[in-house]
Amino acid sequence: MRLLLAVLCVGILALPVYAGEIEDNVAKLKLSKEELLKLGEAIYNVDEANTCFKCHGKGGHGGDQAGAADLRHPRTWRVYQAMGGDAAFTANKEKFLQDLEVALHYLIRHGATTWNLRFEKANKDIKYDWSKVSIPDKADKYNNMMKGLTSEPMKKPVKELIQEKMKLTASQAQDLAAVADFEYVKTFDDGSDKGGVFK
Ligand code: HEC
Repeated sequence: MRLLLAVLCVGILALPVYAGEIEDNVAKLKLSKEELLKLGEAIYNVDEANTCFKCHGKGGHGGDQAGAADLRHPRTWRVYQAMGGDAAFTANKEKFLQDLEVALHYLIRHGATTWNLRFEKANKDIKYDWSKVSIPDKADKYNNMMKGLTSEPMKKPVKELIQEKMKLTASQAQDLAAVADFEYVKTFDDGSDKGGVFK
């Protein structure tokens, strides 16, 4: 009986903290932080029209897409404000950052059009209060120009650098690209009063 209890306890403790489907799929690949960052750097910096790099710019700012978020300043992002901003972040950093990642991995993986249609319905426990968002245009949803990995020129590097090289399915490769890309984006946080979320 004691042994059974011990086994049960270890089993429960070993269960991963619930994240989302994309996070679970990537966790199974057991890549190190360094490997993720390297992949993310390669995916982000693809220098063609309509890529993360072109829209958001080198290091996350100064890109050529009007209204593209400044990736050095996570406190200005819609996700940060809609999820309750500084008050919610300070109250429970771990939970806040976990929810933020689930929302943004999905946004990067599927783009704004699909996010707007599906994300909130499918993730009722992650609350977006759009009235708290200070960016005035289309404040109740994401701007469809945030295409993430669904933009055509992003597809080739995801296929060649991740899917084929690492022998993954197309879907696994996109999950991994989204998570790796966001790990790299987090390094742009400049620690200013508009940043300091990931650093
Ligand atoms: C065609 C241009 C375009 C591409 C390509 C693009 N983005 Fe964006 N991105 C935007 C725009 C515009 C916004 C602002 C969306 C809004 O305010 O609703 C944005 C917002 C974001 C945000 C902030 C989300 C928030 O909650 O405010 C992040 C993070 C982001 N993009 C990361 C990326 C990454 C990583 C890639 C590459 C896979 C990428 N973007 C590709 C245009 C683009």
